[in-house]
Amino acid sequence: MVKTFGDRRAVDGLDLDIAPGTCVGLLGPNGAGKSTTMKMLTGQALADSGTIDVLGLSLPRQSKAARTRMGVVPQDDNLDEDLTVHQAVEVFAALYRVPRAERATAVDKALGIATLLDRRGDGVKELSGGMRRRLLIGRALVHSPEVLLLDEPTVGLDPQVRSELWGLISRLRDDGVTILMSTHYIEEAERLCDRVTIMSHGKAVAEGSPRELIDEHAGAEALEVYGSPARLAEVEAHARDRGWATRRTGTSISVLHANGDTGLAGERRITNLEDVFVLLTGEEIA
Ligand SMILES: Nc1ncnc2c1ncn2[C@@H]1O[C@H](COP(=O)(O)OP(=O)(O)O)[C@@H](O)[C@H]1O
Ligand SMILES: [Mg+2]
Repeated sequence: MVKTFGDRRAVDGLDLDIAPGTCVGLLGPNGAGKSTTMKMLTGQALADSGTIDVLGLSLPRQSKAARTRMGVVPQDDNLDEDLTVHQAVEVFAALYRVPRAERATAVDKALGIATLLDRRGDGVKELSGGMRRRLLIGRALVHSPEVLLLDEPTVGLDPQVRSELWGLISRLRDDGVTILMSTHYIEEAERLCDRVTIMSHGKAVAEGSPRELIDEHAGAEALEVYGSPARLAEVEAHARDRGWATRRTGTSISVLHANGDTGLAGERRITNLEDVFVLLTGEEIA
């Protein structure tokens, strides 16, 4: 898929293949093109070129049919403040043509998944940030979609609320819902996703399971070397000469693929997806 805005290529030849029943993550820094990708998958944005196939339906031509089998949680909270929790979900049940006789059950089920049954009569505006996110997810599930798109599902939430949402997403995955989620939180991708596509400037720079990505790009172990800026520059040069990848981590340097003897003194540590992310996107982690 390619999508340009003026002369900016927001999505630049991205290829995505999502197996049914898996949870796939689009991991990339802000501006990488994740939301634009999501919007093309729902027909909200039109690709300049490329083909998109969702559940055997060709987009954008069949996007209406595809949408009835997809649940979408947008990055921006677009809940109607004037509705109650129950109404917010009911409106979607009607919109997605859940048969009238099944609506009450479907709404209850969605509220149950979102663990909001006891808040059903409350106004949307009375909910906390975490509850609003759960409501957005519940609302997207009211028509029992086969595919769920989650665009940055935990952005801006505090760690405890985030891990609550991880529990919810993980249960959906266990129930066999096919999930495509975007995130710039590495830990989120590492915990929830079977496979991850790392995106940078509209392109996929790597694809694989978190384990595969780590093994391929960072190796099993990294050597973390602390020291003065001059010492760190020396270590960088030493590694570069030998073709080893490095990443800066504030006051230290990590030498990746440092499995054998590097001739350097430092602390050995297990590698992680953050190493891969920083290496491939050039982003620093706050
Ligand atoms: N409607 C738009 N008009 C112009 N530029 C846009 C629009 N939407 C996104 N962009 C640009 O496209 C790039 C990718 O944006 P986006 O898909 O939102 O990235 P992400 O979701 O990964 O943060 C950014 O440079 C952004 O500024
Ligand atoms: Mg986005």
